[in-house]
Amino acid sequence: AEDGYELWLRYRPLEAEWRSTYREAVRSLVVPQSGSPTLRAARGELLRGLEGLLGAVPASAREAGEGALLLGTPETSARIADLKLPLKPLGEEGYLIRRVDTDRGAAIVIAANSDIGVLYGTFHFLRLLQTRTALANLDIVSRPRIQLRLLNHWDNLDRSVERGYAGQSLWDWWRLPDYLDPRYTDYARANASIGINGTVLNNVNASADSLTSRYIAKAAALADVFRPYGIRVYLSARFSAPVEIGGLDTADPLEPAVRAWWKAKAAEIHAAIPDFGGFLVKANSEGQPGPQDYGRSHADGANMLAEALRPYGGAVMWRAFVYSDTNPEDRAKQAYSEFKPLDGRFADNVILQVKNGPIDFQPREPFHPLFGAMPATNLMLELQITKEYLGFDTHLVYLGTLFEEVLDADTCAGSSGRCGEGAVVASVIDGSLHGYRRTGIAGVANIGTDRDWSGSIFNQANWYAFGRLAWNPDLSARSIAEEWLRMTFTANKRFVAPAAGMMLRSRQAAVDYMTPLGLAHLMGTDHHYGPAPWVDHLARPEWNPVYYHRADREGIGFDRTAEGTGAVSQYAPPLARRFGNRNAVPEDYLLWFHHLPWDYPMASGRDLWAELVHRYDRGVAEVRAMAETWAGLESFVDAERFYKTARFLEIQKREARWWRDASIAYFRAVSGRPLPAGAREPA
Ligand code: GCU
Repeated sequence: AEDGYELWLRYRPLEAEWRSTYREAVRSLVVPQSGSPTLRAARGELLRGLEGLLGAVPASAREAGEGALLLGTPETSARIADLKLPLKPLGEEGYLIRRVDTDRGAAIVIAANSDIGVLYGTFHFLRLLQTRTALANLDIVSRPRIQLRLLNHWDNLDRSVERGYAGQSLWDWWRLPDYLDPRYTDYARANASIGINGTVLNNVNASADSLTSRYIAKAAALADVFRPYGIRVYLSARFSAPVEIGGLDTADPLEPAVRAWWKAKAAEIHAAIPDFGGFLVKANSEGQPGPQDYGRSHADGANMLAEALRPYGGAVMWRAFVYSDTNPEDRAKQAYSEFKPLDGRFADNVILQVKNGPIDFQPREPFHPLFGAMPATNLMLELQITKEYLGFDTHLVYLGTLFEEVLDADTCAGSSGRCGEGAVVASVIDGSLHGYRRTGIAGVANIGTDRDWSGSIFNQANWYAFGRLAWNPDLSARSIAEEWLRMTFTANKRFVAPAAGMMLRSRQAAVDYMTPLGLAHLMGTDHHYGPAPWVDHLARPEWNPVYYHRADREGIGFDRTAEGTGAVSQYAPPLARRFGNRNAVPEDYLLWFHHLPWDYPMASGRDLWAELVHRYDRGVAEVRAMAETWAGLESFVDAERFYKTARFLEIQKREARWWRDASIAYFRAVSGRPLPAGAREPA
């Protein structure tokens, strides 16, 4: 069935001309015989891929001749050692794919310093075939820019998934460690194919049970499956675990007994999982325990865990998403206020994990002001692949453009203090701007037990885009979308061009029909699905959408300038000036930083109220256009995947209107303004 299970690794027969071209180019396979599990995985993938794409498996050979495909490292293959390829710059994970002339004819070589590099190169090679790329002058050199490229699963031990919209957790804890679902291997293949090299198995709102010996054994079984694919296992650690499962009466990070408990725990985990990656910690946020419960700082807490992991080389990823019960400040300011003073106080195997924006994975936020502000602390970026605030599984929203916007955002925090000199978020997290020793990027996974893994076919593209950008943050959202479409559907231009256009415009559409012009957090309470800008009765101010839009008869928006909460001052001076100036701030962030009168004049010539309505209408119109585009592509897609996407677009169309109608009706009532001339009456 065409249920999407194979993701982008479909390997369906190519068009006849391509088949013969590639068969000509790949006549035999030369893979070291006594390979490691990783090399066997590479060989297995190659056979599976070539058989599917070309309808035949090339013969295996011992010697490279005309048309040979040669795989390996200088250690595993004398042939590759002889070629004296420039492998040094590739590091541990990089690879090279090249056409070489041997004394017996032209061959293609996939070479690396490690078997995992060979595996990555193999997936790249298959991608070249899947996307119908000419092999004539192959000369590819690739290595990841970021060290830790991780998925964060918000999976609970009862298999429910926090903010998961694709079924249950993949991890079948009950049957682990004895039964290994074959799906774990397919999960590893998919991740390795895009260069993801680690996975945090459990929710950041962690249960201490995940650190008990029973669960460590289960995690170890998963780690064994993932290891050949270069994927390390990490765990979310509950800060109060020493009390809950350790029998201590405190989790105070400066208490020797607590430090000893974590050291023993780290040793126990490493005995079961020798390449255990480390801990992810959510502390003193949304009710989670943490060092502040004992009057200690985030640095005290993180450094204690870092000390426990240090003998094994593991990392502590300490989250900067702090959102406490007692914050009297603008919520957008809290993380910076708590962490900026701690810059330089974290151990070198701690990485501060910072969400892309200062609030919480909204359809659009300005980048988080901690990027560029922590030169002496390793920072990594946390993105959300699952679409908590973006329509869950049903809305088609391609996040490649959102990720790209964040990675390309200029922090203006380079040594010159000027903007436009390349001090973008990507240069912070790849370590180049501040010379970080440890670098990373994490994506909150959108994966579950649904046959299509991600709840919809197009949500697979967000998983794909995350991995590709984690490997190379300079890739464009467009090229990734096109590549994914070719691999997932067809390479036909008449399909790829319109489908890519639809994907590339989809995120702006969601911004427009949900929260245009810098508005944020107007979703229904708790579930975050659908509009609720009117909610004002919840106990804490920042739980209420009215806190974020601040609309009244006079105007709308959140004043974060010096006259307001002053949040703009958390950005580098030139940006603080730009964001703080209503005439200079990009319109996309206008109401994020400014409270303005309804008749404020906009660049379009409309006033603010009319522009707001216009944006809502524009979002609805775009979704209508997406549904029409998709309807026109039926002949290119199998019935099952066509139908699912088409029905989901109908849901999105209806819900975009719901968002628009409800939001406009509400703002109209609050402002007392009539619908602008020419605007559509709600249905
Ligand atoms: C959001 C989300 C929570 C999650 C939290 C986090 O607030 O709604 O479900 O736990 O982020 O990132 O920790």
